[in-house]
Amino acid sequence: MKLNKIYQGDVLAVLKTWPDEIVDCVVTSPPYWGLRDYGIEGQLGLEPTLDEYLDKLTAVFREVRRVLKPHGTAWVNMGDAYASAPAGNFKEGMPKPGDGGQYRSNKPKMQYGNLKPKDLTGQPWLLARALQTPYYIGKIKSEIDRAWLAAIIDGEGTITANAHLRKDDGRWRTRCDVFVTNTSAAMLDECCRIWPASRRRHNAGGARKGRYSDKPCSRWWPEHSEKTSLLLSELYPYFIVKKKQCLLGWNLLEFVKDGRRLGKSQAAQEVRDKRRLLVRLIQDCNHEKMVVFSI
Ligand SMILES: C[S@@+](CC[C@H](N)C(=O)[O-])C[C@H]1O[C@@H](n2cnc3c(N)ncnc32)[C@H](O)[C@@H]1O
Repeated sequence: MKLNKIYQGDVLAVLKTWPDEIVDCVVTSPPYWGLRDYGIEGQLGLEPTLDEYLDKLTAVFREVRRVLKPHGTAWVNMGDAYASAPAGNFKEGMPKPGDGGQYRSNKPKMQYGNLKPKDLTGQPWLLARALQTPYYIGKIKSEIDRAWLAAIIDGEGTITANAHLRKDDGRWRTRCDVFVTNTSAAMLDECCRIWPASRRRHNAGGARKGRYSDKPCSRWWPEHSEKTSLLLSELYPYFIVKKKQCLLGWNLLEFVKDGRRLGKSQAAQEVRDKRRLLVRLIQDCNHEKMVVFSI
């Protein structure tokens, strides 16, 4: 992404190439439904039904939401249109599509459903309504995938934490990790499909020989703390056995972020103490010691 550069193309295709949260302000005037033929491939506005048009604009505005910074704003010019059959009209002698002309075409046959001729379609409000409807913004779009991965981590995996004192600066470092270590390549393939992560042979070294199995054993490991925190937040509703570890681990990773921000202040010391407490609580949960808190 470059500043002051014009990116021209299909709106959805171009937006999909942009990173998250980079735009301060969006001003847009999309084609209304059922009016003009702009004469370009993949144009919006001439879908046979209003629902198809709303679905496409909703997909565009989800991308707009993704690329907007949290304090960003979007200004949308959206007008209404009347049901008419056939949609629009075509007058001989007007500029043709592709020659810079924006004229009504008699080509598209709009399906107005229950609307009578000359009824307002209500498209601005229908779009506003569609954009207000909650949708899943996490990375694992399929609920079956979220439930499956949580079940695998619950049954076969680990949510673990550790703390160690660094020799160089004398400070405590804390981590929370999620692993699935298994001899089943099919299971680990599926974990990677749902949540791409590192995948390493685990029992190759002598120290672990015989610990898991004599079969090749690998570990699926999301590794980075920010990705692990995102994963835990997406899977939290689906954990049954490791719900407490998930909650404690997610909080620990949030405190890790705070620690980086706070540097060497007194507040940073308090955050470090809380992190060590959370590590102990996660370890206690994993050793089936009593850890009581209400969720
Ligand atoms: C209402 S006009 C907006 C004109 C613009 N505000 C201006 O002042 O030039 C809608 C514009 O959207 C463009 N358009 C239609 N479908 C598009 C798509 N899928 N991707 C990008 N632009 C599209 C049309 O070519 C048209 O120029």
